[in-house]
Amino acid sequence: MPAVLVTRAMVDEAMNALQGHCDLDVYTGPPEAIGRDEFLKRAKDKDGLLTMVSDRVDAELLDAAGPQLKIVANHAVGYDNIDVAECTRRGILVANTPDVLTEATADLAWSLILACVRRVAEGDRFLRTGTPWIWGPKMMLGHDLYGRTLGIVGHGRIGQATARRATGFGMRVIHNSRSGGVSFDTLIAESDVVSIHAPLTPETRHLFNANVFRQMKPTAVLVNTARGPLVDEAALASALRAGEIFAAGLDVFEREPEVEKSLLDLDNVTLLPHLGSATAETRAAMGLFAVENLLNGVTGKRPRGLVNPEVIDS
Ligand code: GLV
Ligand code: GLV
Repeated sequence: MPAVLVTRAMVDEAMNALQGHCDLDVYTGPPEAIGRDEFLKRAKDKDGLLTMVSDRVDAELLDAAGPQLKIVANHAVGYDNIDVAECTRRGILVANTPDVLTEATADLAWSLILACVRRVAEGDRFLRTGTPWIWGPKMMLGHDLYGRTLGIVGHGRIGQATARRATGFGMRVIHNSRSGGVSFDTLIAESDVVSIHAPLTPETRHLFNANVFRQMKPTAVLVNTARGPLVDEAALASALRAGEIFAAGLDVFEREPEVEKSLLDLDNVTLLPHLGSATAETRAAMGLFAVENLLNGVTGKRPRGLVNPEVIDS
């Protein structure tokens, strides 16, 4: 049976789907996530790896795994943690789990949008301090969404699903992506809410920086459910402190799992621990999709979530 490493326990449905189909090695900690040394050690002689976004798959890891490795199946739609070019060069398949997490991630983007414009998390934090309060006409004012503009950066599946939800809120939607929409400069100047849905690439790193925050509306909100390094976090903290933008909502971080210290003291930022796809239903679907990709990869079949088809097709 093919030998596989699963770097972190998935939901039961997904773990059960692996039983009987492979010689299974599951990292179960402690610590919770597999460390680099342990990953290098446990990858050795595996035919397939099922990896998390926090696992870096690079040439060193592929060397440690050995020449029998056939597939790296990521438990995610994003795969910036994997050196795909290096995998392709070695004839190793890379697979991801698109589509199944689109709606859940769009819901989470909206959770952050609403939390930011209406100061939801801040209000909750305030009440928990026990500070005396009474309803007042000027208390904790946010901003309307109705009639305002939502700017979507990156118009893939998740960006489009996030845009679709704006109809119910009576918002105008504009988008910017490699394939079209308005220019990036127009988007940041006109948007009242900016939601990031672009992949992390060398071109998108620090797409949101000090210069960009200065061009945004002082009433604008920035939400990132894509990848942390798209935003220069230190510059974001300065912009939030200076009132260059109204608020920000972050589900992902530049040096994840570390959170930029200067953000933690600010009331106008809502922080979540990478929960974009974190629903029971979606995690079951992602886990089953990743397992299907893995088992197809190790048995010489074409995985549905194949990222580098050129390995098979060329
Ligand atoms: C999670 O961040 C994913 O890419 O699925
Ligand atoms: C990204 O892969 C998306 O689904 O938008």
